[in-house]
Amino acid sequence: MLRFSSAADLKAAVGNARTSGREIVLVPTMGALHAGHLSLVELAKAGLPEVPASERKAPFVIVSVFVNPLQFGVGEDFERYPRTLEADAKLLEGAGVDVLFAPEVEEVYPNGQAGANHKTAGKAAEILEGHSRPGHFDGMLTVVARLFDLAEPDRAVFGAKDAQQLFLVRQMAAKDYPNLLVQAAPTVREASGLAMSSRNRFLSADDLRAATALNRTLRQACSELEAGAPADEVLEAHRRQLESDAPQDKLDYLQLVSANDFEPVSNDFHGSAILLVAANIGQTRLIDNLELLI
Ligand code: PAF
Repeated sequence: MLRFSSAADLKAAVGNARTSGREIVLVPTMGALHAGHLSLVELAKAGLPEVPASERKAPFVIVSVFVNPLQFGVGEDFERYPRTLEADAKLLEGAGVDVLFAPEVEEVYPNGQAGANHKTAGKAAEILEGHSRPGHFDGMLTVVARLFDLAEPDRAVFGAKDAQQLFLVRQMAAKDYPNLLVQAAPTVREASGLAMSSRNRFLSADDLRAATALNRTLRQACSELEAGAPADEVLEAHRRQLESDAPQDKLDYLQLVSANDFEPVSNDFHGSAILLVAANIGQTRLIDNLELLI
């Protein structure tokens, strides 16, 4: 595995790989890697299932590890975010990644953070995570665009756990990177159903119990919605339940949106939807979601 912190080195390696006929695949991460990230790497290495194996170019897989200051707000966990680069490098080497790109802030934003080519996420970023974390998605898209410009990938893999992020990245890619394919990787879960997250390491035993209730709630609410129960009643009942089961934690939202445009939907909606939840459990913010057809 090659290991770079310099954008110029990354670009040179990408140039060589492209000349040798490889498909450039980027997996952007903030490090503190776990089995969820490794599943993104597996998808990156596997190639697209819809392309016959005989026609697939050999993937050249780049994993970036960069804790992006622009996507953390004041009072959020930028300083506390786990940084485990050497352990990450070992995992990526074992997973057969071609390049680990772990730049410093100055390499990603050579004109300073204020001088970066800032992206604006738009309307779908105003609700849910965007409402609770103002500026988060602008900062996220800014770094993702910068990574796309540096690595010039043919394909990029993102986790479905960050459903709103995935939607916004796809929206940006459709507009600004029309030749780039954004591939979604299904959420990887603990046996309890808890979605894997770099932040799970901060959860105490009590927190873990409350965290596990999030996925249980999603599953129960989804089966009620799929059985035809009115969305407003289902959501309200489960919000109340979560709040009374763990009054010490703060449920931020339990919301149903259309998978098509990420707009909240009402009782008469039919189609592909996403049920999303976010809660601050102890000191840790957790999110999860499930897709459903109603
Ligand atoms: O999902 C993440 O880990 C981050 O938001 C990303 C996409 C790597 C951008 O910093």
